Amino acid sequence: MIDFKNVSKVYDNGTKALSNVNIHIDKGEFVFVVGASGAGKSTFLKLMMREEVPSSGTIKIKDYNLGEMKKRKIPYFRRNMGIVFQDFRLIPNMTVYDNVAFAMRVVGAKEKDIRKRVPYVINIVGLPQKAKCYPSELSGGEQQRVALARALVNNADIIIADEPTGNVDPQMSLEIVELLKRLNETGTTVIMVTHAHDLVKKFDNRVIVLDSGEVVSDGMVEDGEIPIHSSSHLNHEAKGKIKNKFTKKFGKKNKVEEPEKEPQKENPDEGFLNALIGDTDTYRVYLEDEETPAASVTADEEKGGDAE
Ligand SMILES: Nc1ncnc2c1ncn2[C@@H]1O[C@H](COP(=O)(O)OP(=O)(O)O)[C@@H](O)[C@H]1O
Ligand SMILES: [Mg+2]
Repeated sequence: MIDFKNVSKVYDNGTKALSNVNIHIDKGEFVFVVGASGAGKSTFLKLMMREEVPSSGTIKIKDYNLGEMKKRKIPYFRRNMGIVFQDFRLIPNMTVYDNVAFAMRVVGAKEKDIRKRVPYVINIVGLPQKAKCYPSELSGGEQQRVALARALVNNADIIIADEPTGNVDPQMSLEIVELLKRLNETGTTVIMVTHAHDLVKKFDNRVIVLDSGEVVSDGMVEDGEIPIHSSSHLNHEAKGKIKNKFTKKFGKKNKVEEPEKEPQKENPDEGFLNALIGDTDTYRVYLEDEETPAASVTADEEKGGDAE
């Protein structure tokens, strides 16, 4: 499902962020990505969501070849993903409720479904009493949970989370990972970056370790220890081991009582979608715009007569 082949990333200023990364992630896996600050974890995720392009190598996700993807396809591609950004990227002039609802509005969900689903997800992340607050009225941990709610709300196939526990206490961190685990058990692929090794060791998951842009280890947590394999070793034994364990654990998919997905709007507003999922330039334009994205989406929907 997610395939990195000989992927390297050198930023314009010459910083080598990733070198020769070869990673395959199957549908339904739960993968932690760990490593020190500057190791390349966020870059790895940004390549995955096509926020950055590799300097060399190929990245394939589902049927998409990210290197060849046209810009106008990116919003469609990202509909497959729920993304928790390290810097949250909440829209400051929208309430918690509207930040989460926005993610549904841009994909053309019906107001009726939004009214049902948004409070449900806000409740899941433990913020029902904050629904009417603006991001500036929330603590870092609360904002992080709003970002998580937004990533969950559309039932995406792939959840990509960059340090989703970076601003919350250990108990809340555990709860967040447990929540992601539950989602994973319904078939969602989860990729979570963290530098909290203690947290990772509590879960029986695959862990990819990055160090100075290189994958230095890739294997399952065993007996509470993060495995240390050399890269060459990885290509042989470790891969098979991971696969076997994975099949044992996830072989049988049990789809849970998720509500049916709404058919998605044919023509998403690219601007809104980019704003939402992190095209930074577009995001800024929308923030500086007089008319807020929420207002214009609502206006469109009213015109479309979508309301019940
Ligand atoms: N946009 C950028 N331009 C230049 N260098 C960058 C950029 N983003 C990240 N880097 C550099 O790339 C390296 C990896 O960064 P990052 O992927 O953010 O690491 P991590 O998330 O593991 O802390 C670091 O040296 C960082 O300074
Ligand atoms: Mg980072």
